[in-house]
Amino acid sequence: MKIIMLGAPGAGKGTQAKMIAEKYGIPHVSTGDIFRANIKNGTELGMEAKKYMDQGLLVPDELTVKILLDRVAQADCAKGYVLDGFPRTIPQAEVLDEALNKLGEKIDYAINVDVPDENIVRRMSGRRACLKCGATYHIEHIPPKKEGVCDTCSSELVLRDDDRPETVQNRLKVYHEQTQPLIDFYTAKGVLKTVDGTVDMKDVFAAITNILG
Ligand code: AP5
Ligand code: MG
Ligand code: ZN
Repeated sequence: MKIIMLGAPGAGKGTQAKMIAEKYGIPHVSTGDIFRANIKNGTELGMEAKKYMDQGLLVPDELTVKILLDRVAQADCAKGYVLDGFPRTIPQAEVLDEALNKLGEKIDYAINVDVPDENIVRRMSGRRACLKCGATYHIEHIPPKKEGVCDTCSSELVLRDDDRPETVQNRLKVYHEQTQPLIDFYTAKGVLKTVDGTVDMKDVFAAITNILG
């Protein structure tokens, strides 16, 4: 099963993708997590990506596409995957489509997690992220068992550099300009499903599993 998560920054793509990956036994592939891991490890890719991410801009397609295609070509992705944060532009979606076409494959579902902009800024300032395993918490809605410590891997939780309110505004603008058109793109392919992302995360997940079966 090949699934794409669509939605604004902070809509809960990562939160839901993790749960989907666990339930259906497929890898969770997040381009944002891959970039953040590279930044943390001080790689060249990480340093390049950080320039864009800190401003709330998209990392150029040339860099992003290659990383994603390499990742989904790995053995653990053979039975499917859930993509979180990719594609984010029409050109990225077209490249993915072409690559899948060549293999005689296709995206089965594009899940659009719908959350209005007003809710987003509030969510981001409360988010805490684990840069080691990619787990995400919220200081009010989804707190970790021990403050500042990841439940899964015991690493320190941080406020992401791009979660400052000014940067969040920019990310929302970029989302509406460059990523939202993907809703029409996947609607035209007949695979788009929209779920209400403003309800409790368990209820969002129930709506998604209803769709995925
Ligand atoms: P990325 O890491 O993908 O960030 P994003 O799309 O901005 O999305 P977020 O991770 O911020 O939000 P999310 O939807 O995963 O929400 P989450 O589950 O954490 O990308 C970061 C940057 O990398 C980009 O800006 C760009 O520069 C670059 N990049 C990445 N991919 C790229 C690409 N393909 N092309 C070019 N550049 C790329 O939830 C948010 C918060 O809300 C959490 O605190 C969570 O606990 C809480 N929450 C979740 N669900 C609920 C709920 N139902 N109710 C209440 N709270 C909830
Ligand atoms: Mg995320
Ligand atoms: Zn962790």
